[in-house]
Amino acid sequence: MELEQAQKLWQPEPGWLNTASYGLPPEPVWTAVQDALADWRVGRTSWEGWGEATERSRAAFAGLVGVPVADVAVGSTVSQLLAPVAAALPAGATVVVPEVEFTSNLFPWLVQQERGVRVRTVPLAGLADAIEAGTDLVAFSLVQSADGAIAPYAEIVAAARAHGALVVVDATQACGWLPFDAGLADVVAVGAYKWLMAPRGSALAYLAPSLRERLRPDAAGWYAGKDPHFSYYGLPLRLADDARRFDISPAWFSWVGTAPALELLAEIGVPAIRDHDVALANRFLAGLGRPPGESAIVTVEVPGAREKLERAGVRAAVRAGRVRASFHLYTTVDDVDLALEALTS
Ligand SMILES: Cc1ncc(COP(=O)(O)O)c(C=O)c1O
Repeated sequence: MELEQAQKLWQPEPGWLNTASYGLPPEPVWTAVQDALADWRVGRTSWEGWGEATERSRAAFAGLVGVPVADVAVGSTVSQLLAPVAAALPAGATVVVPEVEFTSNLFPWLVQQERGVRVRTVPLAGLADAIEAGTDLVAFSLVQSADGAIAPYAEIVAAARAHGALVVVDATQACGWLPFDAGLADVVAVGAYKWLMAPRGSALAYLAPSLRERLRPDAAGWYAGKDPHFSYYGLPLRLADDARRFDISPAWFSWVGTAPALELLAEIGVPAIRDHDVALANRFLAGLGRPPGESAIVTVEVPGAREKLERAGVRAAVRAGRVRASFHLYTTVDDVDLALEALTS
């Protein structure tokens, strides 16, 4: 589907420049969730159909990031999906993380400090160089939530492979607009409620087969079973052989909305979305006299930004005097110009 055609599936109020906080649902997502809620309200259907949306989502996600579906686990948050990876680190292991990393990809490693795991934070630009003999794992966001910086993925992976370190990527701020190859990493975790435009409550992770062998699925329940529908009661332990053993039971209504969102993204294609998003980000930067970048998330310092944006009804994040604006496929030139007018008048 052409991006221009797809844009008709949203009706945002003008001035939403905060997909880095949460994404807006396209029509098929909104309708699927409303239908499920209506069925739930009156007990019209059994729950299995809601559960099947999880499997549709898993398949669509695998296609989107280019990995086998058997290597994808489903959960609810990034930190929850990373927890078993952190728990499997041996005592004394060393982890390197960028210093401004969003804490869902920092606290999972830090809580292991009491077992003797060491965590070092370094500037993002120096992350690849900070990987050395004795580094066991490097964890980073492919796109930083604070400022939209894109990590030098290939360089970090090369350094990690040279020193035998595991590579853990949080692609929450990247997946859906930035094309990338998940299979280069050992773990890629993604929260779906931002650039994948799903309701809050669904997250997915690529877990490389060689890494999975070392992990214990501490949160396993019936949904992690070999056949979930024959895993309701009693012995023995019978977990899935693939990444599904790390699944947690699906938050039904979140997944009902996640499946059509992922399927629509696949139909439009991530490269076209990247071009659209980055062009708008660069229009915004140019309007403020800044040089262009390559990210769908940008930050700029503008005195009085909070009040100026509020007055114009523009919703962007303002942190410590800096505006963080983010642009996705439903964002228009008019949204950008509304923000520019507010910030420059
Ligand atoms: C980079 C990044 N990762 C993860 C999250 C959310 O983490 P969780 O799913 O653990 O709530 C956010 C939310 O802002 C984020 O920006």
